[in-house]
Amino acid sequence: MNYEDYLKTSPEDRLKYYQRDDRMYHVMRTQQFDVTLLEELFEIANQIKLMTRKPNGIDFLKSLLRHKKSMLYFTQPSTRTFLSFLGACQLVGMDTAEVRDPSLSSEYKGESQEDAIRVFSSYFDMIVMRDPKPGFCEYMAYYLDHSARSVPFINGGSGKDQHPTQALLDLYTMYRSFQDQGGVSGRRYAFVGDLLRGRAVRSVIFLLSQFDDVEMVFVAPDAFQIAPDLVQALEQSRVKIQKSDNLKEVLPDVDCVYMTRIQDEYDMSNESGQINYDLFSLFPEDLKLMKADSIILHPLPRRSEIHPEVDLDPRAMYWRQLRNGLYIRAALMLYIFNQSHRLQEY
Ligand code: CP
Repeated sequence: MNYEDYLKTSPEDRLKYYQRDDRMYHVMRTQQFDVTLLEELFEIANQIKLMTRKPNGIDFLKSLLRHKKSMLYFTQPSTRTFLSFLGACQLVGMDTAEVRDPSLSSEYKGESQEDAIRVFSSYFDMIVMRDPKPGFCEYMAYYLDHSARSVPFINGGSGKDQHPTQALLDLYTMYRSFQDQGGVSGRRYAFVGDLLRGRAVRSVIFLLSQFDDVEMVFVAPDAFQIAPDLVQALEQSRVKIQKSDNLKEVLPDVDCVYMTRIQDEYDMSNESGQINYDLFSLFPEDLKLMKADSIILHPLPRRSEIHPEVDLDPRAMYWRQLRNGLYIRAALMLYIFNQSHRLQEY
């Protein structure tokens, strides 16, 4: 099948192309993960987290993938995703190399991005990619799958489209936060801010919709409300949804508040400048409105949508959330290379 025909296949049909031998191989979108797989990954991440507390645990982890090497190709800015993939590779013993500025590679001399990335597959066993072009990571995975050197690709954020590993760490944080209170199911989640253009929100919503009796409230200015295709997907999954533009009204009734920044890098004509983002921001006085056992998440980076004093509240989970990125990304690599069963040897 050529790439044009591949693109005509439905997203559901395409999921099988990310598999090898009934096992996840490429990580492209959150629709690849079902609850069973998520719980397996969370258990692996829990074990990794515990092992990192002991020197012999760290040594053992480092032995698991020391025969593998990973290329981190990040041509769009990143702090957390890049560093936590780097840290996760180090945790499980993988060597890494990086390209962050293509003007320092032979792309500067006119080499196509396709050729440049094909070179990586000769030297590395995995490619983690963040690129501003939606679908580019998937295109490269397809391209190399049809060459002599296919390697697993992990999508580290593609345009406005998806950021699947961010969604994994978001859900892992929800899972850990609610594990002693009955779990992720049966809860009410608020998503706040620029919901139209935020790829992290888009990705985590797909994951969360797989859990039972989940309700979602989308708090956003009209111009940046959740996209119609996502509403349709949620209705098909029978998730109860509500839209609002009044954060203060929503706060008392939700178990999780997922904040996001305005994504003004995607503005065509200063649309973001028309928005009073204070209405979609959390201030210290808002904390009094929230349930005592609720949690606040944010994929970060933030601007002013969470006041720094909110960080002191025990419900603020976003610093823990980014640390969880290390463990869940390491878990994902052990899973992809089919080494997670070896944790039992420790
Ligand atoms: N959350 C996230 O993707 O952060 P970075 O852009 O810093 O990687």
